[in-house]
Amino acid sequence: MTNAPVLDHKAAGARRLEGKIAVITGGGQGHGRATAKRLAQEGASVMLVDRHAPGAERTRDELLAFGADADVFVGELGPWEVAQSLMEATKARFGRIDVLVNNVGGAMYGGKQGWEFTPQELEDNLRNNLYTCLSCCWAVMPHMVEQGSGAIVNFGSHAVRGTARLAYAAAKGGVMAITTSLALEAAPYGVRVNCVVPHLSDRDEGDTLVSRIPGQPPPSGAARRDASAGVSSPHLTPIPMGRPGKPEEIAAGVGRRLLHHGRDHLRGRRRLLPHLTPCSP
Ligand SMILES: NC(=O)c1ccc[n+]([C@@H]2O[C@H](COP(=O)([O-])OP(=O)(O)OC[C@H]3O[C@@H](n4cnc5c(N)ncnc54)[C@H](O)[C@@H]3O)[C@@H](O)[C@H]2O)c1
Repeated sequence: MTNAPVLDHKAAGARRLEGKIAVITGGGQGHGRATAKRLAQEGASVMLVDRHAPGAERTRDELLAFGADADVFVGELGPWEVAQSLMEATKARFGRIDVLVNNVGGAMYGGKQGWEFTPQELEDNLRNNLYTCLSCCWAVMPHMVEQGSGAIVNFGSHAVRGTARLAYAAAKGGVMAITTSLALEAAPYGVRVNCVVPHLSDRDEGDTLVSRIPGQPPPSGAARRDASAGVSSPHLTPIPMGRPGKPEEIAAGVGRRLLHHGRDHLRGRRRLLPHLTPCSP
């Protein structure tokens, strides 16, 4: 253990994931980065997956400085064979896979009516939000079944009830369906599958934030706030706390509520996090 500052003393003290190996997709920024830190503080070793190498390496270096073991797999998730390579690389590096957090995703090209998106924009949203989750679930399950244990946490979204994000909403509805269906199939093999359903989160990472659309500049703080206003339309239940969530709050929900010991019967659940609406989509 180094003298690096501990970000969450309570989580670090608990070490509830000591010895566990976690794969976190999209660990380079936002929720993935916060979740990686949280699980590492709870004792897990982490494989960070991201297409943006500098982001993933920055997170890895923070985890190493904290005293955790961590590594990076750089790749564009979505294709089946990339997901398979990721799981094989994780097994080769760490020996097993206890946790998969399917975090990669996020709405792209928002702010339009559903019929105004181009076919390419619709497909991009589906590929990055649905196929990333489905392919990683598919690729990790044989490893977890062989072990007789494992836990998967998928990232849904309250956008399934919002506007201006039609294909994103469709993809996240699919993620929630994957959670329920796979939880039923996986339970007899000792594998739990759950889902977090965040409302809006404030990903304020300043200059390091990368765009969800490769090759484009990241959205400004003002643009992100405008996009948030679009999703918080009258069609979507307002956020009870009256403010966007923080990635750290989502990460705490993943770690504390869905992964640690004593949660063995929590399967196929949608975890609505503190700043979220009290009803299930
Ligand atoms: N931010 C929000 O307000 C919000 C709200 C509800 C749900 N969510 C969900 O939370 C999850 C994370 O969102 P975020 O806001 O932290 O996202 P983000 O865009 O800030 O970060 C996503 C990370 O994943 C990486 N990535 C993206 N596509 C990839 C791919 N195909 N292969 C490999 N790496 C890829 C990016 O490089 C980036 O590091 C998503 O599933 C999103 O739908 C976010």
